[in-house]
Amino acid sequence: MIFVTGGAGFIGSQFVREWIARKLGPVIVFDKLTYAGNPDNLSSVASHPDYSFVRGDICDPAAVSEALPEHCDALIHFAAESHVDRSISSAAEFVRTNVLGTQVLLDVARARKTRRFLHISTDEVGGSIPEPRFFRESDSLHPSSPYAASKAAAEHLVHAAHHTFGIDTLITRTSNNYGPFQYPEKLLPLAITRALAGEPIPVYGDGMQVRDWIHVADNCAALRLILERGEPGATYHIGGGNVLPNLEVLRTLLRVLELPESLLTPVTDRLGHDRRYAVDWSRIRDELGWRPRVPFAEGLAATAAWYRAKAISRG
Ligand SMILES: NC(=O)c1ccc[n+]([C@@H]2O[C@H](COP(=O)([O-])OP(=O)(O)OC[C@H]3O[C@@H](n4cnc5c(N)ncnc54)[C@H](O)[C@@H]3O)[C@@H](O)[C@H]2O)c1
Repeated sequence: MIFVTGGAGFIGSQFVREWIARKLGPVIVFDKLTYAGNPDNLSSVASHPDYSFVRGDICDPAAVSEALPEHCDALIHFAAESHVDRSISSAAEFVRTNVLGTQVLLDVARARKTRRFLHISTDEVGGSIPEPRFFRESDSLHPSSPYAASKAAAEHLVHAAHHTFGIDTLITRTSNNYGPFQYPEKLLPLAITRALAGEPIPVYGDGMQVRDWIHVADNCAALRLILERGEPGATYHIGGGNVLPNLEVLRTLLRVLELPESLLTPVTDRLGHDRRYAVDWSRIRDELGWRPRVPFAEGLAATAAWYRAKAISRG
């Protein structure tokens, strides 16, 4: 039995759909269903006997305590406020959910004797990484947005719970995920939905911010492996090996969609925008034998096709 917070979101729902499809055992999804959580993301598994859903807030200890069975095999913690732009407009909800919520989960998991606690973090906690460096698990954290700072704080709480109480924790820091079922506010799903509607696609500043793109299915494969074989207390970086400037990603997308580059429209850059994220994921490769499998152009084409089919089915 596993307990998945944020399972109605983008990455969490992919993880849950795959878990059920692979017959890996019962899953409880615990999700507040904020604007980013969508029950439709889980409709394909909703009637499966191994699946159950509890609507609740990770900041509410009584609600988490009631939903989390004793001796659960693992708690996988995806739930978060996850959009940097929103954290710049207002950080309070990020501190509440990402920091307080994580501590509530750690406390309840300890009381309910949960066996493993897998905390999903981000490469953004490392801050901007100048070329030619790659962010390593042992590097110190330099978060620069309110979102990244709240995720870094959560990591410290997870580490403290492991050190102080011996909780079997794991932390993953993944790079930019892409794929189906993502709420269309972040770069790729926003660009795809705008492009399909023939609308301008906003490009922050000079568009030369560099990110490493990983297909969400590759990330979920890494998470399953880490859950099964990760070293207690360890942190693992998960990257896609596609370290690209945003402008190149958007140009590739427009080529895939056979649409003109004239849709790209420069807009004022995000405040404090980090220039480059690039993770060194050699640890998971060397220790656990994982590597990403989805080629970027193929994954991008499939993702665009998924959004196109969704737009058509909506009429
Ligand atoms: N998307 C990425 O590229 C990316 C990259 C690195 C790390 N991450 C991390 O992965 C995790 C999942 O990201 P995502 O893109 O799937 O996020 P998302 O925004 O799509 O989904 C977040 C989910 O958490 C739920 N949630 C939010 N606040 C909650 C609360 N207080 N209680 C219970 N549920 C709550 C939402 O309803 C939603 O279902 C996050 O922790 C994020 O920081 C994401």
